Amino acid sequence: MYIIKKKIGNNEYFYLRKSVRKGKKVIAKTIAYLGKTRKEAEEKMNQIINKPNKPIEKIKKPEIQIKKMDNKNIQKELTIDELTAFCKRKGFVFQSSLIYGGLSGFWDFGSLGVDLMNNIKKDWWNFFVQQKENMIGIDASIISHPRVWKASGHEASFADIFVKCRKCKKPGKIDKADIGKVKCECGGELENLGELNLMFKTQIGTEGYSYLRPETAQGMFSDFKLVQETSRKQLPFGIAQIGKCFRNEIAPRDFLFRSREFHIGEFEFFIHPDEKKCSLLDERHLNLKLQLLDAETQARGKDELKETTIKKMLEEKKLEEWHAYWLAEQILWYRKIGLEKIKIREHLKTELSHYSSATFDIDYEYPFGSKELGGIANRGQYDLTQHMKESGEKLEIFDEASGKKVVPKVIEPTFGIERVFLAILCKAYNYDPGRENIVLKFPARLAPVKAAVFPIVKNNEMIKVAREIFNNLKKEFNVIYDESASLGRRYARMDEIGTPYCITIDSDSIKGKDVTIRDRDTTTQIRIKISELKEILKKLINSEIKFEQAGKIVETRVKEI
Ligand code: GAP
Repeated sequence: MYIIKKKIGNNEYFYLRKSVRKGKKVIAKTIAYLGKTRKEAEEKMNQIINKPNKPIEKIKKPEIQIKKMDNKNIQKELTIDELTAFCKRKGFVFQSSLIYGGLSGFWDFGSLGVDLMNNIKKDWWNFFVQQKENMIGIDASIISHPRVWKASGHEASFADIFVKCRKCKKPGKIDKADIGKVKCECGGELENLGELNLMFKTQIGTEGYSYLRPETAQGMFSDFKLVQETSRKQLPFGIAQIGKCFRNEIAPRDFLFRSREFHIGEFEFFIHPDEKKCSLLDERHLNLKLQLLDAETQARGKDELKETTIKKMLEEKKLEEWHAYWLAEQILWYRKIGLEKIKIREHLKTELSHYSSATFDIDYEYPFGSKELGGIANRGQYDLTQHMKESGEKLEIFDEASGKKVVPKVIEPTFGIERVFLAILCKAYNYDPGRENIVLKFPARLAPVKAAVFPIVKNNEMIKVAREIFNNLKKEFNVIYDESASLGRRYARMDEIGTPYCITIDSDSIKGKDVTIRDRDTTTQIRIKISELKEILKKLINSEIKFEQAGKIVETRVKEI
């Protein structure tokens, strides 16, 4: 029997452990909690050893500083400040230029953050571009001709009304339609400080000025004809891109939720102007259930959600078929990456953007409130017509059926990628009361690090095998090698950054050429052959097999307390 110490936050806790031999294996078991100081622990251990017949004190987890909550509650109680601090502590995301005090609305992604972000972007691209026959990807420049922004209407109307509360002095922004109608959260009157265009203006050489793009959409409109000709696509087809956008937000807030530099993933889907039918709409889309806050309910000043289906929305003529198809596809992607708590909000006619005839916001229930994650707008022929007028170029397409040239109408699904990133993090963030630490339960496909490789102890033979496995796996996945600290500590470190699988090399691995894989969410372990490791990991990450079916379940060698 021996004493072990466990550190939780700034506190230390002592436990009594016992090693028992089971066949060839030695299993360590925690049998009693001994208190918070070594002295107290030694006294209690002596009592237990000297009075073996006395029933030992039942293992009781210590009262720790972290508030214990079930997963449901922690989701509710997770605050944006807590998440911001966690992301900085673990190196996911931190404020830009911190050595100069930071710059409001700008964020830097650390190594884990950039991998998570890239995985989200890759999944988006795979779903909406690679797997769709009628979609072409582009990557347009961030700065374009200033006349692009004149034609699109952004130069004249992409503005917010800048306000300041007369009582609490907090700055903010409101929509033009709300001037004189809304008050500050504190109840104070809002002072109108005038209009501010949200585009960042920038000097271009000695030629003049332009703007950093506030949306990626205009690249797809101005390149429309060239992309159509080079790809030889016929209507209907879409042009997609993901890229950085910039908005000079008056009041950036809520971590990544409202920043001044962020990514938008969006596509413009071009359709014959007379087309009413969508050939791709099937039962999966039509029967998709969703929570809708419709325009009529909002007009009555209420915010009750209705459960509806895409089919019902079509019957009620809330949208056209292609609009409905892409709304359903958007929801299907969100569900695929684990975001279920989605609500759809129909825009009131009075709040539609200058280019849209029908828009729906897609909101996510973040722990700090239900907020916009993305949207889908019917932009009609607005943008192509505007660019034809401004440039003098014909942005039409020849329609073989009618033998006429037409200007396509457009459906635009849009995604705030940082908002998706934030939703994925909120969903993944779980406090595990058994393990007494945070476990980020990312879907394996999105997790920044896919696996960690550990020799169970620092033994040359085990290190050699572990390093060979690590070098082989890192050709395929983002993996970490770690031989420092106890195995339990190494597991906890991986749980906290959401690594789905930990691979342990022990003394049996040398002879048996096999290893143990531990599943992050259940801590279940399986034993598999080293020769099969890469293929099994690939299948696990792509959810092609269940963990328990991937190998023989084995007992945990080192107890995780
Ligand atoms: N092309 C359409 C368009 O730009 P939008 O609703 O203005 O539409 C698209 O922006 C998405 O970009 C929003 O749904 C939101 O998710 C995200 N977004 C907008 N402003 C943002 C900001 N300041 N910070 C982070 N994401 C933002």
